[in-house]
Amino acid sequence: MTKLDHRPLGQTDITLPSLCVGTMMYGSQTPEDIAHRQMDRCFEFGINFLDTAELYSIPPDPETHGNSERIVGNWIKSRGLRDKVFLASKIAGRSGMTWMRDGQETRLTPAQIRKAVEGSLARLQTDYIDLYQLHWPDRATPSFGSILYGYRHYKDDYVPLEDTLGALDELKREGKIRHVGLSNETSWGVMKYLQIAKDKNWPRMVSIQNAYNLLNRYFESDLAEIAMQEKIGLLAYSPLGQGYLSGKYLDGKEPAGSRLALYGRLERYQTPAAEAAIRAYVSLAQDLKVDPAALALQFVTSRPWVTSNIFGATSDAQLDVVFQSLSIKWTREIDRAVNAIHAQYPNPCP
Ligand SMILES: NC(=O)c1ccc[n+]([C@@H]2O[C@H](COP(=O)([O-])OP(=O)(O)OC[C@H]3O[C@@H](n4cnc5c(N)ncnc54)[C@H](OP(=O)(O)O)[C@@H]3O)[C@@H](O)[C@H]2O)c1
Repeated sequence: MTKLDHRPLGQTDITLPSLCVGTMMYGSQTPEDIAHRQMDRCFEFGINFLDTAELYSIPPDPETHGNSERIVGNWIKSRGLRDKVFLASKIAGRSGMTWMRDGQETRLTPAQIRKAVEGSLARLQTDYIDLYQLHWPDRATPSFGSILYGYRHYKDDYVPLEDTLGALDELKREGKIRHVGLSNETSWGVMKYLQIAKDKNWPRMVSIQNAYNLLNRYFESDLAEIAMQEKIGLLAYSPLGQGYLSGKYLDGKEPAGSRLALYGRLERYQTPAAEAAIRAYVSLAQDLKVDPAALALQFVTSRPWVTSNIFGATSDAQLDVVFQSLSIKWTREIDRAVNAIHAQYPNPCP
């Protein structure tokens, strides 16, 4: 079994494992005892990087909001591992999920950022968050890796980025957060935050957490260049296209207990082009005699602009596949084969 490698986090002197535990289903699909076992196994394997958010569990729900942070916090405390794990969380961007803010729209204002950090610290039972990310912008942008509804410009209808970064600077000075990162951000947003940080001597964003997988390579259009040139690496989410790249949903199948069967909401992967692309990637994996999910995971992990690949396993067997994915040697032939499929079905899940 190939070992994990460690990669630099932005321009910091921290290195992170190339795999990160995604926890968004903890407290909804994944009960606390299974989540704890999963984090134990990951930690033993060397994956000490955990990604959560104030919003989680998914799907968003006032009843389960904060469950993931609570479960992660309980696990860290019960194992006495606070100084051995790298803990990432997120504040919700602009939304109508008023139940997270006592009846107000969620916004990236200084007051809301402070309140959100304090809520996360309490649920996580810690004094500091290693990486605090803006889950999505306050601006209206094509979001969550989807360009389905295109871009609409609302001039100046957002919290100024200076206000948001200034608030993060204060929280960093107070020691409540150690580093800051972006998520679901555009090229303009990334570059603007880097410029403000330079001008004001405020914290520099160290990472960008966006969707990235074989069915959605939009990141490569221009953000990949920013990631490399500016040393702001990708924390890639949904590396399996929420499970679709395993092939288990082909031919209209909906296995019992799967995310699709439990929660639906995955229509974007159900286009004819996506179905054809998934079939082609599964067939390539079969030719290579590797698990299709492992192939899809290793595609993401092997990209030079990826700092860490945030996976979302729900069982021991799926976690085994995540670990096994590291043993796929990503050759030039595999790269060519994958790119040929991509050229035939480019980004089929808009
Ligand atoms: N920043 C953001 O906006 C954002 C958005 C999404 C995710 N994330 C982060 O990224 C993490 C991972 O996202 P994700 O859960 O969408 O990742 P993913 O790896 O694309 O999808 C995970 C789903 O794939 C299925 N799966 C995993 N391994 C499998 C295998 N070997 N065979 C068949 N099915 C398999 C599981 O399905 P079943 O449920 O069917 O068992 C699981 O629910 C999240 O936990 C979160 O931390 C961030």
